[in-house]
Amino acid sequence: MIKIANTSIIILILTFTYQVHAGSYQAGKEKSQVCAACHGADGISQIKMYPILAGQHKNYLIHALNEYRSGIRDNVVMKGFAAGLSDQDIADLSQYFSMQQGLKIPPLK
Ligand code: HEC
Repeated sequence: MIKIANTSIIILILTFTYQVHAGSYQAGKEKSQVCAACHGADGISQIKMYPILAGQHKNYLIHALNEYRSGIRDNVVMKGFAAGLSDQDIADLSQYFSMQQGLKIPPLK
């Protein structure tokens, strides 16, 4: 009985931990309003100097945003925007942009 109770507690903790870092599409969409000025609506930038975020791998986006926040990626513009993001914000934004339709690369002939 004690074993079952312990297992349940561990599962509960794991579920909670996963949810905290999972990232929410809806929350990401709301938080992405500020990013749209440069990265475009739904992450499709129309201006070449701003990278397209739509359809990028989620882990890549998380990694990039962490690096701007910590300064490993040294970019004045993005450092300013990433500095105020929490881990949860980064997870939500990355979830949202990774689920957008990115550019389609035509198949090789
Ligand atoms: C004022 C314009 C501007 C805004 C607003 C902005 N960015 Fe950026 N972002 C840039 C520029 C410029 C770069 C390229 C920086 C570089 O060369 O490293 C960039 C790069 C990135 C990258 C790296 C892309 C890659 O392919 O490596 C990510 C991820 C990103 N931005 C996310 C965001 C998010 C999320 C927000 C909103 C919280 C945001 N940006 C708001 C200008 C902006």
